[in-house]
Amino acid sequence: MKIAMVGSGYVGLVSGACFADFGHEVVCVDKDDAKIAALEKNIMPIYEPGLAELVASNVRGGRLTFSNDLGSAIKGADAIFIAVGTPSRRGDGHADLTFVYQVAREIGEKLSGPAVVVTKSTVPVGTGDAVERILTESGTPHRFAVVSNPEFLREGAAISDFKRPDRIVIGAEDEFGREVMRDVYRPLFLNKAPILFTGRRTSELIKYAGNAFLATKITFINEMADLCERVGADVQDVARGIGLDNRIGSKFLHAGPGYGGSCFPKDTLALLKTAEDFDSPVRIVEAVVKVNDSRKRAMGRKVIEALGGAEGARGKKVAMLGLTFKPNTDDMRDSPAIAIAQALDDAGVAIAAYDPEGMDLAAPMMPFVTMTGSPYEAIEGADAVVIVTEWDAFRALDLDRVKTLAKAPVLIDLRNVYDPADMAQAGFAYTGVGRG
Ligand code: UDX
Repeated sequence: MKIAMVGSGYVGLVSGACFADFGHEVVCVDKDDAKIAALEKNIMPIYEPGLAELVASNVRGGRLTFSNDLGSAIKGADAIFIAVGTPSRRGDGHADLTFVYQVAREIGEKLSGPAVVVTKSTVPVGTGDAVERILTESGTPHRFAVVSNPEFLREGAAISDFKRPDRIVIGAEDEFGREVMRDVYRPLFLNKAPILFTGRRTSELIKYAGNAFLATKITFINEMADLCERVGADVQDVARGIGLDNRIGSKFLHAGPGYGGSCFPKDTLALLKTAEDFDSPVRIVEAVVKVNDSRKRAMGRKVIEALGGAEGARGKKVAMLGLTFKPNTDDMRDSPAIAIAQALDDAGVAIAAYDPEGMDLAAPMMPFVTMTGSPYEAIEGADAVVIVTEWDAFRALDLDRVKTLAKAPVLIDLRNVYDPADMAQAGFAYTGVGRG
């Protein structure tokens, strides 16, 4: 099949490369000339494990090409995916659909044969209807269908999420759309990936409902963690104790500094806006958003507490290990590290940081932080070490070396990477999350 992927960002590039790897002929389109030129030299615009290799091998195999010209890219395409960004609109939190609509208009003008237009970008309920209206109004004489096919890719694990999905959701209103999508995903049927056909609006809502539920699960365990600290319980055991109940499930019950990233913060806000527009409040999600926002700053206070409170903290130095919102990505969007660093700086604490991939993007967001070349360099002379992101590189620190380099053996472990008893034995003043 021939596929055009419009938007060569995170979702478009991963999806395009994986489709090509399944044997489809894929053109990834982007209006950013510099991005296309870089991709042609196999330089990826994002950090994602395995992506550069996957792109390179499919380019070599002649199945994957790049273009800045939408018209030629969609010529003869069976499916045209819209995978452009839908950022939060400044001011009101609504998803900004400017790019989606722009692309839809251009597809309408340049369509040269029958095709299915697929929204892969995360878009609010009803966007598929609007895209269909734009295509109809373009007066194109060619047959088309508009389909919703949300992505469920986790950064850092996006390729395996694409190739071995828990499910594929396709929202289509007619048989033409369903038929083409069945062919697009046929290579995955062989892996027995469940494919769920729904109406288009339902599919659009599934994406938001899924992310809001996961954000709720994380926020729930984070509040349990706070309660554990008060009552002297251990949240890791609570998570295990409830997670073994199949109805609850053990995933996404890891307490930490609050969720961040490109999806959960943006999608929960957009869902609240949709709920407001349709006068059907989702109060649980409202609470999740508020609790998660205040949690990030509260983590800064937790560090200050470990430094002896506001008085004791002023003038001290902290080593922050990890800045990205999670490991195996360079993404800093809504990372808890931003609020934590700000809270520490406000309290007069000096910060040295190390992150394996995130420092370039983080530096302009926190100009007061000294970026270093290794965890140990950051730790040198620090009054406390804070693990903000659970990169593998921080899971087996040389504790003797940490103790020698740091001014004091104080470890604040916001991801519960270490065992409190082990750390006590190693002579550290240890603070985890929810380990009373
Ligand atoms: C998420 C969804 O998982 C994916 O399906 C969707 O399409 C895009 O959004 P992503 O943002 O890449 O993916 O990261 P994810 O691994 O889901 O983590 C999101 C945030 O939740 C991170 O900040 C992470 O640290 C946090 N988290 C996750 C927890 O604090 N505890 C957990 O148990 C799980």
